[in-house]
Amino acid sequence: SLEHISLLPADPLFGLNARYNADKRSPKVSLGIGAYRDSNGKPWILPSVKKAEELLVKDPSYNHEYLPISGLAEFTQAAAKVILGNDSIAIKEKRVLSIQSLSGTGALHFAGIFLKKFYKNTKETDGIPTVYVSSPTWGNHFQIFQSAGLKTATYPYWNNDTKKIDLKGFINTINDAPKGSIFLLHACAHNPTGLDPTHEQWLQILEAIKVNGHFSLFDSAYQGFTSGSLEEDAWAVRKAVELKLPLLICQSFAKNCGMYGERVGCVHIVLTEISEDLNAAILSQLNRIIRSEISNPPAYGAKVVSKILNNPELRSQWEQDLKTMSTRIIKMRYALRDELVALKTPGNWDHIVNQQGMFSFTALSAEEVKRLEEKHAVYLVGTGRASIAGLNEHNVKFVAEAIHEVVCH
Ligand code: LMR
Repeated sequence: SLEHISLLPADPLFGLNARYNADKRSPKVSLGIGAYRDSNGKPWILPSVKKAEELLVKDPSYNHEYLPISGLAEFTQAAAKVILGNDSIAIKEKRVLSIQSLSGTGALHFAGIFLKKFYKNTKETDGIPTVYVSSPTWGNHFQIFQSAGLKTATYPYWNNDTKKIDLKGFINTINDAPKGSIFLLHACAHNPTGLDPTHEQWLQILEAIKVNGHFSLFDSAYQGFTSGSLEEDAWAVRKAVELKLPLLICQSFAKNCGMYGERVGCVHIVLTEISEDLNAAILSQLNRIIRSEISNPPAYGAKVVSKILNNPELRSQWEQDLKTMSTRIIKMRYALRDELVALKTPGNWDHIVNQQGMFSFTALSAEEVKRLEEKHAVYLVGTGRASIAGLNEHNVKFVAEAIHEVVCH
């Protein structure tokens, strides 16, 4: 019988989106879901994507055949270079295994299933590894790993008093966790806090992970959004590879190519030893997981991104597009902070400009967020996370005045 099934609350992000879409008020502003908007608040098809799509459909060999189980090789290989670098020693030594996934969530899902089945290094008494995620983290992380049968726990990350990273708490948790635990790390543009460790802090974090024999699981969903530079935003991942940490990368092209609905992503496993036999064995197991779950991945988005990554002209257009997006977001951070300062809104708002990537963790309370939505039609996630990409020159004053009202209320 199915009668015992109980109703779950709506998803915090997609539920918010649905409420926003149903809202008839004008003006209304969505600072909810992490999707880039242009200076008119509209979804943006990147010029590099537009050109790649034109080239793709013009190509006489274009069709809708199945991809191989592990995906479009010219895409997954180029994608590995995006995150690991063109001269990656790990790629040269054939220590990198790449498969295509349903964007970042699909990558995390495959990673979870794979690690639950094969990761044996944990010193947990029940043999089931725990994935440690930052507190706070992207809400979906918990349910992805839990449905893969892994345990989850948190490490301290955001210090609400200082609005900085709680590095000491983070490192203590790395040291106290059972050896061989799995640590989920946000490669850049931490979601939701917008706070990334400095290079110096990363070195301490990675060193502690290494000393304790943990496994690193990098979630790379915003490469290019922090600095506008793909290289800089991959610094932590590349450093971890250089330090020979065993690791896995879940890579999404949803945000940095604006291909949200096309589900373009990869899993890259970086091994510490060179072994062709092991590579083949791991790939065969991954392929079985993929075949049983999705048979083979969707082709269209991967073909588009592959065109961009493998065509020098499109690639440089893409890098320009990343600059366009990251620069506009940074400009909007300053605009919002300056409006709040001009309004003399109580509190210090500098954290908005100090944070990076798509989001600002505004430190607005759940009550204030609720009032923003109900009274002003300004939508934020309940944790106080604001997607800065939703701001533009036409609505930033309106949003600042709404924040001012709820803070002073
Ligand atoms: C977000 O955090 O808003 C995005 O990653 C969208 C999503 O899938 O949750």
